[in-house]
Amino acid sequence: MNIAFAGCGFVFDIYMRTVRAHDEITIKGVFDINPERMRRVQAHYGFHAYSSYEQLLADPEVDIVVNLTPIAAHFEVSKQALEAGKHVYSEKPLTKSVEESRRLFALAGAKGVRLGAAPCNIFSDTVRTMYKAVEDGAIGKPLLVYAELDDNPIHLMEFEKVKSPTGAPWPLTEEILEGCTYEHLGYHLVWICGLLGPAVSVTAFSSELIENKTEGLPGRSGTPDYSVANLQFANGAAARITCSVVAPRDHRMRVIGHAGEITGDSYRHYRSPVFLERYSKGSLSARKFQTLRARPGLGRLFGIGGRKIPLVRNWKTPAVEKDQQMNSSLKQRLVEWLRRREVYAQDKFSGIAEMAQEIRDGRPQFLTPDFIMHINELTLLTQGAGSAGIAVRPATSFEPLGPLPGTDSGGRNYADAARPGLLEKLLSR
Ligand SMILES: NC(=O)c1ccc[n+]([C@@H]2O[C@H](COP(=O)([O-])OP(=O)(O)OC[C@H]3O[C@@H](n4cnc5c(N)ncnc54)[C@H](O)[C@@H]3O)[C@@H](O)[C@H]2O)c1
Repeated sequence: MNIAFAGCGFVFDIYMRTVRAHDEITIKGVFDINPERMRRVQAHYGFHAYSSYEQLLADPEVDIVVNLTPIAAHFEVSKQALEAGKHVYSEKPLTKSVEESRRLFALAGAKGVRLGAAPCNIFSDTVRTMYKAVEDGAIGKPLLVYAELDDNPIHLMEFEKVKSPTGAPWPLTEEILEGCTYEHLGYHLVWICGLLGPAVSVTAFSSELIENKTEGLPGRSGTPDYSVANLQFANGAAARITCSVVAPRDHRMRVIGHAGEITGDSYRHYRSPVFLERYSKGSLSARKFQTLRARPGLGRLFGIGGRKIPLVRNWKTPAVEKDQQMNSSLKQRLVEWLRRREVYAQDKFSGIAEMAQEIRDGRPQFLTPDFIMHINELTLLTQGAGSAGIAVRPATSFEPLGPLPGTDSGGRNYADAARPGLLEKLLSR
């Protein structure tokens, strides 16, 4: 399957980190309205650079256009590609209004092409493992999700100094003006809605807490840097998602069921650890002891937080595991290995790979248009909730998704995992 990129800024280099593991996809070329970005990307990766977007769209060999432009340009860039009869994979959020998203899906339908969108972390091994544990009945019926998306106090992180390997600055101004909710909420919404189905009510609040985040912007940007959404799902479960660039980094995903809980350490690391706790009287009572709460390692001996379970795999897991650095020295590769192991290991290409495989196999779109529009609407509602808050019923909905395609569980069943340890059993008595 042949693809071409529109937009070669900061995130383009993140996509390139795992490109080597997707040899079934061929990059036909790139286009960016900034000629300097095109020059840098061409020099670094050797891709063909189109002289205009029209030229990219006129290339009959391009099957999928990957839209990595800033959020404000998403609609127009995707629309032009769909009109030209190309499949489109867009960065999130798809557009800045449900009506625009609806128009894009109608256009895709009329042209007989597909429109897919990031985030793709629903395909990560961590999320797959959490889903598998739920499917296996390891925690009973899921009742409640707590999801954190705090990404450090933005004004203290010196983001103005951060650059991608080909020199694209992290778009700090854009990130502040669009806001962490637009930029990040979708990462949690995809896996939560994928697990629990459509939301039937949203109670949300958003607020701007930090003034003077960076030079060159008004003290108040007018965009929330903190939001919280409470979702009621049609299946009876509920979720609370917190999103900020105010509190220190915390990306935890917790699914609490009738009989236990499953916790993923980070949505952003595709092989981040997953813990399974099957509640016992011991593990629940142990939480009352402040010594155990203050010493998580000790607390785990009494069952608090459960045990780490082996991860299932995605057909694309090697993309996350493999050494991905291109043209790099030994030192850079060591740094990259440590970063990938400890901090951040995403395969942003996996969404494109899934889409390409669905098109090749003639399978329906797993992340359906209705699903993507629902994620889009929940994001927009939460961002726009304001400090007075909202309580509304979303206008969009979707048929619950089936099981994730491409999971290799190695015959594993989590129903029997995480039996209570000795101390937990003692406390239970
Ligand atoms: N920065 C991140 O860490 C990150 C992570 C995940 C997703 N994203 C998403 O990826 C998208 C791009 O983010 P980014 O950080 O790369 O932004 P960026 O500003 O660094 O890059 C965007 C690039 O698109 C180009 N561009 C703008 N309008 C264009 C047009 N009409 N046609 C072609 N090129 C155009 C710009 O010149 C720029 O080089 C956004 O939707 C963002 O939400 C960003």
